[in-house]
Amino acid sequence: MQIQVRAGQLSQIRNGVPVFAALEGEQKLQRLMPVSSARDRQLLKLATSAGFRGAANETVLLPRDSRWVLVVGLGKERELSLDTIRQFAGTAARTARSRGFRKIVLPMLYEQRLGASSAVAQTLVEGAMLGLYRYDRLKQVPKRERNQRIDAVTILVGKSRDVADAKKGVDKGRVIAEAVSLARDLINGPSNLITPTVLANEARRLAKRFGLKCSVTPFATLKRLGFGGIVGVAQGSAHPAQFIVLDYKPARVKTTFVFCGKGITFDSGGISLKPAEKMEHMKYDMSGAAAVLGALQTVAALKLPHRVIGIIAATENLPSGTAQKPGDVLKTLSGKTVEVINTDAEGRLVLADCLHYAKRYKPDCVIDLATLTGACVIALGGEAIGLFTKDERLAARLNGAGKATHERVWRLPLWDEYAPLMKSEIADLKNAGSREAGAITAAKFLEEFADGLRWAHLDIAGTAWTEKDKPYIPTGAAGIGVRLLVRLMEQWK
Ligand code: BES
Ligand code: MN
Ligand code: ZN
Repeated sequence: MQIQVRAGQLSQIRNGVPVFAALEGEQKLQRLMPVSSARDRQLLKLATSAGFRGAANETVLLPRDSRWVLVVGLGKERELSLDTIRQFAGTAARTARSRGFRKIVLPMLYEQRLGASSAVAQTLVEGAMLGLYRYDRLKQVPKRERNQRIDAVTILVGKSRDVADAKKGVDKGRVIAEAVSLARDLINGPSNLITPTVLANEARRLAKRFGLKCSVTPFATLKRLGFGGIVGVAQGSAHPAQFIVLDYKPARVKTTFVFCGKGITFDSGGISLKPAEKMEHMKYDMSGAAAVLGALQTVAALKLPHRVIGIIAATENLPSGTAQKPGDVLKTLSGKTVEVINTDAEGRLVLADCLHYAKRYKPDCVIDLATLTGACVIALGGEAIGLFTKDERLAARLNGAGKATHERVWRLPLWDEYAPLMKSEIADLKNAGSREAGAITAAKFLEEFADGLRWAHLDIAGTAWTEKDKPYIPTGAAGIGVRLLVRLMEQWK
């Protein structure tokens, strides 16, 4: 898809369907933007008479002279944020595509109020590209639908002196949207196609393309080196586990980050088998790993001044004659032993080894991302990532990055009073307690392996998958975490 920046007036650009933004008033449509002529103003009347109110993501297609004009609602002005703009672009691009248009013109909106031209341009590109994302490589798409595609997006700025800034934003938006799309492709891909080996190859491919260091430790070596958490989960599968480390190291390093990703390519629960209903969704149990890959691709493409190490434990969780069983005790890389009460609490076992491994890099900050608990889905649903950390500053930074990207986090307690729930009679820890405080006890378990680290845990079980189309997140993998991590690193001082 081609993306260009032009200066001019919306209704004068001939290179695609112009998209006007509409503000909702108390009862009715209030205003259209950017309007520059009396002819533009007539659109307001026309839209109103079509019953259009300007509610967020409401759309109407109107004739104007011999061309079509698309109007997309922003909602109420006082609720406006950068995410409104992202949604606006997503809705505009998708609506235009479904109506058979190939080219659209998106105007810059509220640059002053929302920061800068570059920020708004970046957001428009993110919204359009992420909204247009589809995963259709595994099915026959009817020719008519195949032909529905947007080839060109023009970002329109009011003044030509803003063009250069907007172009910077466009480039960044594209880099980020491509990384989120990569994560989505890996997550939407079924587990027979996206195996641990495929994730390892993906890491190797990124390493080659962006000049990163990549090491992949195969299953046999993990056994020998004492990665007991990963081995316990992986030992029931025919596809061998892969322990993946991707290392981006610029010439001058400001901060060292480690991102750990849960990479369960399919979580059946193992011997503690999950019910059949919706089990097919458990291909998304590697969303943490996908976010880590996306974040590494982005930092490398943007050449951020931080060292970033991605650590991914990739394996399936399946029952078989060689699978671990409830009651088994395993010894993790840290030396701590774990009684496996429930083989379905596998994410914390593989992450235990990742977190311990992270210590060798003496990082300034470690963040793990995992679709860790059903309890987090129940607690927070699809709008908030569960955040767990004892570090107030890190919590504040993640909160800020969450607000800026709309990948919002919500902090839950990590109080020590919850720790006894994970004590075992016969080992140092057990991997599952009762159902109470399930997201918290999982985080407490991880904390045991993060001693000495400045660490936060992000439970993305509720946010990584979307059941219903959103303006820039089509049903399926959200690719969540990539934008959050990138923003965190950009803001880090
Ligand atoms: N991958 C699941 C968590 C999950 C559930 C993610 C639903 C997305 C949607 C995780 O491995 C798991 O099974 N957790 C168990 C832990 C329990 C056995 C202590 C859970 O949450 O039920
Ligand atoms: Mn599980
Ligand atoms: Zn899982």
